[in-house]
Amino acid sequence: MSAPQSNLRDAADAEGPLSAEARTRIDRAVAKYPPDQRQSAVMAALTIAQDEHGWLSTATMDAVAHYLGMPPVAVYEVATFYTMYDVAPVGRFKLTVCTNLPCALSGGEAAALHLKAKLGIGFNQTTPDGLFTLKEGECMGACGDAPVMLVNNKRMCSFMSDARLDELVAELAAKPAAGGNAP
Ligand code: FES
Repeated sequence: MSAPQSNLRDAADAEGPLSAEARTRIDRAVAKYPPDQRQSAVMAALTIAQDEHGWLSTATMDAVAHYLGMPPVAVYEVATFYTMYDVAPVGRFKLTVCTNLPCALSGGEAAALHLKAKLGIGFNQTTPDGLFTLKEGECMGACGDAPVMLVNNKRMCSFMSDARLDELVAELAAKPAAGGNAP
């Protein structure tokens, strides 16, 4: 059974930017590529590091760069290009709503407006209790299921009517902190 995510984060914070467990997981990703292509695992490595810390600090990105033998700026470029990476702290639950055109025309904009009103925050903001961060996402490849959104980059939610959004927010808010950020 895997350890609760909050415990992983505590351990990671105590060990530095890359915990022993993170390095082991990154090694598994690196092994999928030729030996002289360690940098090909950068996206996997950033995901692993973010899962542990909740976001990617400069120190964490530098550690990933060092571990993969890459220039730090190359890692920053990847981390700042893709919306699933956070280079600033976020709440326990990051809600990423797709507002690209197909979704926007099928309720995505309305879903975002509902969440903004319900949580009292705008895009790229976090609720004062640190629970929710709202993000605007790019096409998630599920345009026919609009409105769609992701919770913590991993849980896909489709057909998010106002009622379903309310249910989701209530469900996440009820999760005990000791249970980590599993979406
Ligand atoms: S435009 Fe939203 S999933 Fe494609």
